[in-house]
Amino acid sequence: MGPFELISLPYASDALEPVISGETLSFHYGKHLQAYVNGLNAALPGSGLEGYRLEDIVMKSEGALRNHAGQTLNHNLYFTQFRTPGEGNKPVGNIAEAIVQQFGNYESFQKTFVDAGVSLFGSGWVWLSSDTDGKIHITQETNAANPVQRGLRPLLTFDVWEHAYYLDYQNRRADHLNALWQIVDWNVVNGRFEASWNL
Ligand SMILES: [Fe+2]
Repeated sequence: MGPFELISLPYASDALEPVISGETLSFHYGKHLQAYVNGLNAALPGSGLEGYRLEDIVMKSEGALRNHAGQTLNHNLYFTQFRTPGEGNKPVGNIAEAIVQQFGNYESFQKTFVDAGVSLFGSGWVWLSSDTDGKIHITQETNAANPVQRGLRPLLTFDVWEHAYYLDYQNRRADHLNALWQIVDWNVVNGRFEASWNL
């Protein structure tokens, strides 16, 4: 046991099917994320960053500690942004307005976001984040990187490491990313967007 613990999932392990299978979820959450949390707890002692928030550890560390802290933060945000698949799932609230203002419409935003995920070479993450002016940004981050390292507030992310989709979609990364829109919990994403204004 260490200072960081595996987060609890806000849904059952098969709740995201058929978009993400229970088998993928059990490996991704129970094995991969658990290993990142264990690695974070193993690398933290003696780093001088004990007691810091996870976001601050990601910004201030390097090497194995930064990789494990980054992957823990990334997956914590990833796994808590989903809900059971819904017909016509769409953005809500202020984030919906920001998407229309900056991307013209939701479909244009979806295409830009998925294209960024598909074109990311190797392992990494595609992110929607906000800046201190309330503008939103789509960025590609490789390996364990997180937008907090650019001074941005992370709102929504799609994991494009193969472990996130290979059991269900094999090499069809675009199909996987397009399917994820069915399970994005936009109340969570909008809540992160609005909370970012008070930081
Ligand atoms: Fe992952």
